[in-house]
Amino acid sequence: MEHILEACKAIQEATNNFKPEVGIILGTGLGGFVDSIDVEYRLEYKDIPNMPVSTVEGHKGCLIFGTVGGKKVVAMQGRFHYYEGYTMKQVTFPVRVMALLGIRCLFVSNAAGGINTSFCVGDLMIITDHINLLPNPLIGPNMAEFGPRFPDMHDCYSHAIRNKATAIAEREHIKLQYGVYVGTTGPTFETQAEYRYFKAIGGDAVGMSTVPEVIVARHMSVPCFGVSVITNCGLSDEKGDHEDVQLQGKKAGERMSRLFTELIREL
Ligand code: HPA
Repeated sequence: MEHILEACKAIQEATNNFKPEVGIILGTGLGGFVDSIDVEYRLEYKDIPNMPVSTVEGHKGCLIFGTVGGKKVVAMQGRFHYYEGYTMKQVTFPVRVMALLGIRCLFVSNAAGGINTSFCVGDLMIITDHINLLPNPLIGPNMAEFGPRFPDMHDCYSHAIRNKATAIAEREHIKLQYGVYVGTTGPTFETQAEYRYFKAIGGDAVGMSTVPEVIVARHMSVPCFGVSVITNCGLSDEKGDHEDVQLQGKKAGERMSRLFTELIREL
């Protein structure tokens, strides 16, 4: 708790008491969304007390404060993954901080492997629910100031926000898929048998992030909205063409940015 409060205090001092309404976590390859933000402050993780520092290439470690569609936002450019060796408390530390800064909802994005065989590379999947196969970040003494010992996980991914996203996507001609995100530790990608297993237990996409952050946000009663960019199809026979995957990822990132921007405007 002390660590979290210390980080909050330092951020408030460095940002002239900026009060973000929406928190955003940008996944692998999705940092381009920052171009949609009218940036007011940019804080490097290394300058925030107690904040872990990202190690993965392609993940910049910055907290960005600014406005999108007239709303104040804080965006994490670079997140922390369990497979990097962080504890689950470290992985979810920034979510606690953003919640204490006052965000009223959390938008999360990630790159994920498609399990649902009707998905194509480059599809955007609205996360409707998740299956957690990572250690639970709430294990340990409950911080009752934040939330209950046994948090409810109904409406984990807010129906209300998802409905708005669907309406915006129709208007903007953005194709959406919907499905269940399976959160794994990684860092290995799945074997064919594992992709089949995740399909059998009800998964539509699989990735190595998002679930811990959402659990902690829900512990604090923060409504969540999550989008996966499908970067590969686990059960497809075809080996992905690397260049095509990158191109599809970039195009999907642009669509995701448009969806996030319009959604934030209309929140
Ligand atoms: N599995 C797990 N994580 C991923 C994948 C995958 O196939 N693709 C992108 N992130």
